[in-house]
Amino acid sequence: MTSAPVQDQLVENLLEAMTWEEKLGQLQIAFRPRLQDAADLVRGGIGAIFWPRSAAATNELQRIAREETAHGIPLLVGLDVIHGQRTTFPVPLAQAASFDPAVSETDARVTAQEAASGGVNWTFSPMIDVSRDPRWGRVVEGFGEDTYVNSVFGAAKVRGYQGDSLGDPDSILACAKHFVAYGQAEGGRDYNTVDVSGQRLRNVYLDPFRAAVDAGVATVMAAFNTVSGRPAHANHHLLTSILKDEFGFEGVVVGDADGVVNLLDHGIAEDLDDALRQSFAAGLDIEMGGNVTTSDGGTRLGPGDVPSARVDDAVRRVLRLKLALGLFADPYRSPGDEVVVPSSESRRAALTTAEKGLVLLKNHSVLPLGTARQRVLLVGPYANSTDHLGAWVQSFAEPAGSLAEAIREECPEWDVTVREGTGFFGGDLDLIGQAVADAADFDAIVVAVGEPSALTGEASSRSDLRLPGAQEQLIRAVAATGRPSAVVMFNGRPLVTSDWIDAVPALLEAWHSGLEGPRAVARALSGAVNPGGRLPMTFPRSSSQVPIYYDHENTGRPAKVSGSLAGGVVDVGLMGPGNTDDHYTSKYKDLDLGPQFPFGHGLSYTTFGYAEVDVSPTTITLAELQAGRTVKVAVTVTNTGDLTGDEVTMLFIRDLVASLAQPVRRLRAFTRNSLGAGETKTSSFELGWKDLGFSDNNGRYLVEPGAFEIHVGGGLEGTARCGLDVLA
Ligand code: NOJ
Repeated sequence: MTSAPVQDQLVENLLEAMTWEEKLGQLQIAFRPRLQDAADLVRGGIGAIFWPRSAAATNELQRIAREETAHGIPLLVGLDVIHGQRTTFPVPLAQAASFDPAVSETDARVTAQEAASGGVNWTFSPMIDVSRDPRWGRVVEGFGEDTYVNSVFGAAKVRGYQGDSLGDPDSILACAKHFVAYGQAEGGRDYNTVDVSGQRLRNVYLDPFRAAVDAGVATVMAAFNTVSGRPAHANHHLLTSILKDEFGFEGVVVGDADGVVNLLDHGIAEDLDDALRQSFAAGLDIEMGGNVTTSDGGTRLGPGDVPSARVDDAVRRVLRLKLALGLFADPYRSPGDEVVVPSSESRRAALTTAEKGLVLLKNHSVLPLGTARQRVLLVGPYANSTDHLGAWVQSFAEPAGSLAEAIREECPEWDVTVREGTGFFGGDLDLIGQAVADAADFDAIVVAVGEPSALTGEASSRSDLRLPGAQEQLIRAVAATGRPSAVVMFNGRPLVTSDWIDAVPALLEAWHSGLEGPRAVARALSGAVNPGGRLPMTFPRSSSQVPIYYDHENTGRPAKVSGSLAGGVVDVGLMGPGNTDDHYTSKYKDLDLGPQFPFGHGLSYTTFGYAEVDVSPTTITLAELQAGRTVKVAVTVTNTGDLTGDEVTMLFIRDLVASLAQPVRRLRAFTRNSLGAGETKTSSFELGWKDLGFSDNNGRYLVEPGAFEIHVGGGLEGTARCGLDVLA
């Protein structure tokens, strides 16, 4: 690899030699449906394309770029490789449920190797949009409702995709998206308006992007939405002042698909030329769609439209990435080495990830069923469905099998009878009745339900968060038999379970867990695997309770359940069931307080106990914090049950009195430990300057002196509380 100064010189030499049209050609990516004649586009000087589906096809386009264009500039080849190329890992939301960022780093590594082998050198992932509204279909693509979880998992993905060096043959460019606040779309309706306060923008939505930049992310994608009236694609304050100037981002800002064209419908641009002019002036570096140049070799922007220094800056950013990837030295892939079938190691990694993301939401001594001989009735549309890969799956990915098949392989002693009872949609109560008519003949019943993956992802918002079709009726019919039964739910967002949850003995959240998802579930049902995942998003009681999230502000009139929590600390995340007669408080009159299942909830087949939390020191000054001194928090957890299991320990803070109202809890650290029966482990955390403060409405980060609470435990429930005083 050539040294940085030599690379810089190469970039400057190229810039010197390129015409205005050649420069603008580098600032766009054409996507596949419009790739009528990719070869012509490349001959015409386009700098980036969507993946043409094989190493051989990519090599030919790279050859044209290298040999038939004036300066031989190789191509960026992009693709949405979100949770797998050939080996599909669990959807990102399920990965977040593992509370183990190492699984996402592994996913990204495997994904990068598979994608790079076919010529992809740029993925549009990770999505790190904090998502607090499960109606939004895209919650499946990100890491849930918490800012810190999105930061940690996003950075892990970036490390995995980009590897130790972009110059390594199996490294690809990552893309942190969508910049910014896309998760706040009003009403959870995709592409809808975002109106976000300055402090929420900074404290909730921007932080994961700062973490991605710190992790060295090579590209960032602008969001479709407006922020304070200005679409992100044309938002100089966001793209340049914050991302590039303040965060020091030196990579490429890419637009979203037709995001520049969409400025016309936003009503801020008169025509496409105007939209392009505004976007590049705001700080966009690559337009997604291929609209910058015209078919006759001209461009939509003249030298007077955008300052030439801005265009040079964008081209410089693009060329630097191409050099860093080593494409000038060798843009070709060996077609014989292209990974088209998952290796056994990749499958194993996908299985581990799927197992770690399983969340046991409820269990009244039904699970695990054990491996011994027994008659099991498997009902529900997910018994035979192979729709496990989830949103953003590649059409050429290795297909998954069904839960029924996986159970037969993993639990060979079971005598399994499979009846769907109902499909995903529609449904016939007579058929449901027939499916469970001989329930008494079975030792256990497993109900496999969920939402098909087509109901999740982009442009797939839902107004009703209940299971579609007659699946709830099926669940109730099984519960009414009184036989031991467990519901397994396959879905890509929090769902509403309130109409049936009290009737069922057990509920396992399985998500859309990818190629090995069904096997992971079969192993959890038998007990070969002990579920240890936790919810990365709150499960509401009702669709009209959203948005609902654990790190809400207290409000001036919080609803209180009598005797719920001492010391004026009210945490709606922990409340319910029950309501209150306290009239003038923040609540719904017709709904129990609090969520159905809070953020961080998840059970195990074993039990865990926490000893005292040790905080040291318990007093610290602002000056000490600023100088880098930290507060150490240590807690000891013991597996108090009979089985090996994983425990996620979380640390939350609460700033009790501040100049801006603060969330009732903020997650600042977590760790996942595997403990054998009776085993004890100590987890240690450090809290410093960056953990205790917040950004004010002027974008200034500050830690304010005063009393803090530190809550440590296995989630929001049952945490130990300690004090910390920050002195002026
Ligand atoms: C639109 C989506 O918003 C974005 O996430 C994706 O990367 C692009 N389409 C390209 O497929």
